[in-house]
Amino acid sequence: MTSPQQNPPQELPLNEVGPGRYFFFVTFCMVVLAGMIFFSLRIPPPPPPPEVKSDPVLTTGYNVYMRQCVACHGLQGLGDGPRAFSTPIKPRNLRDEPWKYGDDEESVLKIITQGGPQGVMPAFGNSLSPQELKAIVKYVRHMAGKIK
Ligand code: HEC
Repeated sequence: MTSPQQNPPQELPLNEVGPGRYFFFVTFCMVVLAGMIFFSLRIPPPPPPPEVKSDPVLTTGYNVYMRQCVACHGLQGLGDGPRAFSTPIKPRNLRDEPWKYGDDEESVLKIITQGGPQGVMPAFGNSLSPQELKAIVKYVRHMAGKIK
């Protein structure tokens, strides 16, 4: 009977690199698996509607909205995002009429840049670029049917 320990000496170096490679492989698989689980658990935003997709400014606005606003204002702007349940005042339903702080470009830019007076609606003036601010203003006004 030959057991693995009785391998010819010239095969020993190969056996010695074996465990290192094995652990590398296992670690690699675990990282890949963890990544796959993480990404499958994230709820992907729905694809933008065609009229948004065909307008580069609206597309930028859509991406900003899905990143920064959806948690409070919800996918459709109904003020029903997952964070809406824990904010001291309700995020606005952006489909309501009329808008509390005005729905013209200037007023919307102002509330998004400076935030709401109670400090629940965050100020985005420092975290978004001027182009992104312009795009998010256009997107929310479009979403709410303020731009025909
Ligand atoms: C932490 C939750 C939260 C996030 C994130 C948030 N908002 Fe708000 N938003 C609010 C709340 C709360 C109000 C209501 C403020 C008030 O009534 O004073 C509001 C109000 C508004 C209004 C004013 C609506 C009106 O009736 O005049 C606009 C426009 C708006 N948000 C857009 C956005 C946009 C665009 C983003 C992303 C860039 C965003 N919000 C992110 C909570 C949030």
